[in-house]
Amino acid sequence: MTLNQRVALVTGSSSGIGHEIALVLARNGYFTFATMRDLQKKSKLESIKDEENLPLEFVQLDVTNEESVRIAVQTIQDDKDRIDVLVNNAGYGLTGALEDLSIDEIKTQFETNFYGLIRTTQAVLPIMRKQRSGIIVNISSGAGRFGYPMGSAYVSTKFAIEGLSESLSFEVEPFGIKVILIEPGMIRTNFSSASVLAKKSLDPNSPYVPIMKNMEKGIKQLLENASSSQLVANITFEAISSDKSRLRYLVGKDVEQWIEAKKKMTDEEFHNMIKQL
Ligand SMILES: NC(=O)c1ccc[n+]([C@@H]2O[C@H](COP(=O)([O-])OP(=O)(O)OC[C@H]3O[C@@H](n4cnc5c(N)ncnc54)[C@H](OP(=O)(O)O)[C@@H]3O)[C@@H](O)[C@H]2O)c1
Repeated sequence: MTLNQRVALVTGSSSGIGHEIALVLARNGYFTFATMRDLQKKSKLESIKDEENLPLEFVQLDVTNEESVRIAVQTIQDDKDRIDVLVNNAGYGLTGALEDLSIDEIKTQFETNFYGLIRTTQAVLPIMRKQRSGIIVNISSGAGRFGYPMGSAYVSTKFAIEGLSESLSFEVEPFGIKVILIEPGMIRTNFSSASVLAKKSLDPNSPYVPIMKNMEKGIKQLLENASSSQLVANITFEAISSDKSRLRYLVGKDVEQWIEAKKKMTDEEFHNMIKQL
């Protein structure tokens, strides 16, 4: 490690946004620990690392597993004795009408998207506090700012991340630690294919089938104009590098327009707009 080289930890680096953020950080000189729950998925990143001679290492980290998080963070601390940037990115979508969602499906969703983020943050905070600096980047979503049909579970996890991040930013500020929320709109990744559909939604007799079908059609259309994960990575890097970083960064024309509309509209007007998407 070169003297004063900064160190980053990214969760969920096996694909999509996490993969791109790990690359951007490493390409910009951060010694980057690209963590993933299944290290067999490291091959794509590993070949880029070898080609470009990047400061990138791979560590197993499943955000739902306390021991896995502890060992990963300990491994990084033993190796580098610092963590300057934590990117809480690991997550997936659970889709289905609230009535069709089982409590277990919702708990599993929170276990990854919300408690996973807490687990990793709690493991890293003592290191950042000791060094009296650090940046915690939480990958939220436009879904952290407004709801939409069939999204109640996923949207709840992202709203929870938004609230947590706002509160946390006050607590860690005195220790020189910043919190940043990245709020992407529709991004082309494995997200849709990795999304979990509530079991009951598969029942053709579910009263929510028409809304579900409509939603699937709408998502397909929106995905046609989706942004790239590189855009998310570039904006995340810009936020990390800025002396005057903000709490929130929107990523994508779609989410920029929705948030702009939300500011101008009543809740009812916004509700009707989302219904027509
Ligand atoms: N794509 C979008 O439109 C969009 C929009 C807004 C926000 N986001 C957010 O962006 C983040 C990344 O999603 P993506 O779009 O890049 O989707 P993705 O390509 O499916 O990537 C999700 C990543 O999270 C990992 N992951 C899932 N559960 C995990 C666990 N228990 N422990 C560790 N890693 C785990 C996955 O690992 P495996 O490969 O092992 O499954 C994968 O690396 C998520 O938080 C998502 O909510 C996405």
